[in-house]
Amino acid sequence: KPIVLSGCQPSGQLSIGNYIGALRQWVQMQATHDCRFMLVDLHAITVRQDPQQLREATLDGLALYMACGLDPDNSVIFVQSHVPEHAQLAWILNCYTQMGELNRMTQFKDKSDRHAHNINAGLFTYPALMAADILLYQANEVPVGNDQKQHLELARDVATRFNNIYGDVFTIPDPFIPEVGARVMSLQDPTKKMSKSDENPNNFIGLLEDPKKITKKLKRAVTDSDEQARIYFDPEEKAGVSNLLSILSAATGRPIAELVPEYEDKMYGHLKTDTADAVVAMLEPIQQRYHEYRTDLDFLNQVMARGADKASGYAAETLRKVYDVIGLVARP
Ligand code: AQP
Repeated sequence: KPIVLSGCQPSGQLSIGNYIGALRQWVQMQATHDCRFMLVDLHAITVRQDPQQLREATLDGLALYMACGLDPDNSVIFVQSHVPEHAQLAWILNCYTQMGELNRMTQFKDKSDRHAHNINAGLFTYPALMAADILLYQANEVPVGNDQKQHLELARDVATRFNNIYGDVFTIPDPFIPEVGARVMSLQDPTKKMSKSDENPNNFIGLLEDPKKITKKLKRAVTDSDEQARIYFDPEEKAGVSNLLSILSAATGRPIAELVPEYEDKMYGHLKTDTADAVVAMLEPIQQRYHEYRTDLDFLNQVMARGADKASGYAAETLRKVYDVIGLVARP
């Protein structure tokens, strides 16, 4: 079976963007792939986190992973910082990644605008840690939202460069990007992607949010100010309306092409109400299961311990190979 690896940052409450763009695909991939899914807490600290909130968000994320349908008996589910090889390989890959390459990353530009008071080196070298995450497990496929495509391409370039010098050490990973809902946009500024750490909570919908709040946020979503309040799909010209159509499509499983004729003569309010109902219905069973997992700390600990053990086994093997080919003397 092809190996798959992916993860979410516990940098806030997981959003419907994370679910539609990533988690939902992961659940399906469990049937056909050998899966490893992490909570990338080391990535999360590239932005300043409150320690207690980071701990909570990591456990919440773990419970949410399972509530969404990730199965710890079938997939390796773990916390990134429990497997020290991630930080170790990241350092090495930093030495094989060019400043110029990192300078081109749009996420760095985005995040350094948003966190201008803390543009740290970790934020800049984030893609080297992400490359380490992937390459440690010799992943064949990496399911990511559109926003992470550039990072994945960099991981491929670095792996290819390394292999060209030292032989076939790393598997070159392919991106797997879902077509529907590849990018869920911010509700108040639909030209930006929806982010769980957005300072304006009206921009995103968390997976654990109260149905009333979800409805309120979607009703307030920005549509557009053009004269003709018509509903059609055009992410450039009608970003807000197209985002709602995409969310509705993802939440109902109905293609956008089928939804458009149904809504083209309706008011924006209809689209918003139906989208809110569909999102609430999609999240209801997830929220229910979440509460069961989140209150069972023994179970969560057991999942983390088992996941870390298995992940460490794979990761240590790759790291040993890397140390050896680059000429680090083995510890006697
Ligand atoms: N808006 C989105 N639409 C589609 N996919 C998305 N993903 C994130 N946001 C969207 C996908 O979710 C996976 C995990 O992302 P992440 O948590 O590692 O980091 P991120 O991409 O930086 O997500 P956020 O929510 O924007 O986090 P913050 O606010 O902390 O930066 C990835 O596969 C991503 O593509």
